[in-house]
This record gives sequence, structure tokens and C-alpha cells, in this order.
Amino acid sequence: MIEVRDIHKSFGDTEILKGISTTFEKGKTSLVIGQSGSGKTVFLKCLLGLFTPEKGQIIYDGQSYTDLSPDQKRTLRSEMGMVFQGSALFDSMTIGENVMFPLRMFTKQSMSEMQDRVNLVLKRVNLADAQKKMPSEASGGMQKRVAIARAIVNQPKYLFCDEPNSGLDPRTAIVIDNLIQEITDEYNITTIINSHDMNSVMEIGEKIVFLKDGVKAWEGSNATIFRTENEAVTNFVYSSELFKKVRRMYQEENE
Ligand SMILES: Nc1ncnc2c1ncn2[C@@H]1O[C@H](COP(=O)(O)OP(=O)(O)OP(=O)(O)O)[C@@H](O)[C@H]1O
Ligand SMILES: [Mg+2]
Repeated sequence: MIEVRDIHKSFGDTEILKGISTTFEKGKTSLVIGQSGSGKTVFLKCLLGLFTPEKGQIIYDGQSYTDLSPDQKRTLRSEMGMVFQGSALFDSMTIGENVMFPLRMFTKQSMSEMQDRVNLVLKRVNLADAQKKMPSEASGGMQKRVAIARAIVNQPKYLFCDEPNSGLDPRTAIVIDNLIQEITDEYNITTIINSHDMNSVMEIGEKIVFLKDGVKAWEGSNATIFRTENEAVTNFVYSSELFKKVRRMYQEENE
């Protein structure tokens, strides 16, 4: 579980995160949504420890980041998996080498132990045969699956995914969302996904945090998001023509 208490993050004179508090449960896939520029990536980078909030606390299973020694911070970092915005694979490494990278960085496992683990996670994302391929030979959806395999190879407690299905067709996007959700459940991970995709909201969305201009403007689930009166949320949800039509259908049904 991750508990976020009133975090503030500025760059120069500009405050980007203006006091965000929420919690993310273990074994659950939580969503952070909001328009481009609302602060989702900055928020996720704070959770990853890449940015240090100037105020507030982030508590990982009871341990506040600011209380940790450098060694403990390193251990915590090794317990985090990350799928960056864009897959961010290393172009000059094979898919297998990409997935092995975190094990080389963070563990002292033998080559055969690492290889076993790589085989296992690549099998889990249905890429058992792609190990020797280069990322450039893989489709967008495959590259995302490689990025997911790399993020979970070191058995993380926490998994952060920044727009994991951006640039994919809707069907492949749902496959990726479902894969992350299944893995989260199987390995009991605390998972947070950044998204501005309504498909993800429909598919995952058990816990949704809505950011607007660096503030948590709403929190709920996909069961409540279509009923909220919160204008910022409805503007976001119904920004697509499809969802405007869905809303009209609901309204007509209820008349
Ligand atoms: N390193 C940085 N230095 C200065 N400003 C930054 C930095 N990173 C982000 N920002 C600013 O913070 C704001 C929020 O950016 P962020 O990348 O978190 O948005 P986002 O919600 O992830 O958007 P998108 O959906 O486009 O990915 C933006 O105004 C951005 O310009
Ligand atoms: Mg972003």
C-alpha cells in the first residue's frame, strides 16, 4: 500500500503538484487520470523517488520515504517496477537483454538464475519466442509487453505505468490494461497507472484519482465516474464524442 499525504512539487516558481493526498491499495490496479499537463507524470515520478516533493510525505507499506537511509532507499527502489511513457526499451539490446537489465542492476544473481527469470516473465507476457529479437523488430503492442516484462522481472512490490497503452489501437490497449491488472492480482503488487484513455477507465477503474492542474479534483471508481456532477470530471469523461452519445443514451433511458 502507498499512502500519499499532501505532497507539493514545484519547478522554480511554478507549483505543479499543489497538495495531493490519496492511498493506493496492495493487489489493486489504481488509475491516475487527467488532461495533458495536469501533473500525472510528475506525480508518478514523485512516487518513484525520481522527484523529491518539497512538502508532504509518501509512505510505502508504513515506511515514510523521508525517514529512509540511503541504503533503504536503494532497497525500496529495487522493489519498484516502471513502465515509462513510450516503452523506452534499449534499442541496441535484444528483448531478452532488455528484460534482464534490472536484474543486472539490482541483484547479484547468477547468469542462469537471471535467464530463468527472464524466460518466466517473457512467457507470462506471451513473448517466449521473441527473446533474441531486437526491439525494432517488435510491434508497438509487443514493445509494451516487453516493457511490462522488464518492469516485473525483479518481482516488484510496486508497479508504476505511465500511459502504458498510448499509441496502441483500442483492442491492443485493452489487452495491455488487462495484462497489467492480472499481473497485479497474481503477484499482489501495488500498481498505479497513469492514463488519459477512457477505455482504461472502463476496463480497470476500480480506484480512480482525477488530477486537474496539480490538484486531486475527484476520486472514485468507474462505477461512480459516470454519475458524478463534478464538472471537471464530466468535461474530461465526455470530451470524446462517443461518450457524449453514451451519456445522451443514459439520459434518454432515465427520462
Ligand atoms: N522537469 C520539469 N521541469 C519543469 N516543469 C516540468 C517538468 N516536468 C513537468 N513539468 C511541468 O509540469 C506540468 C505537468 O506535467 P506532466 O508531465 O506531469 O503532465 P501529464 O499530466 O503527465 O501530461 P501528459 O498527459 O501530456 O503526459 C506541465 O506543465 C509541465 O510543463
Ligand atoms: Mg505524462
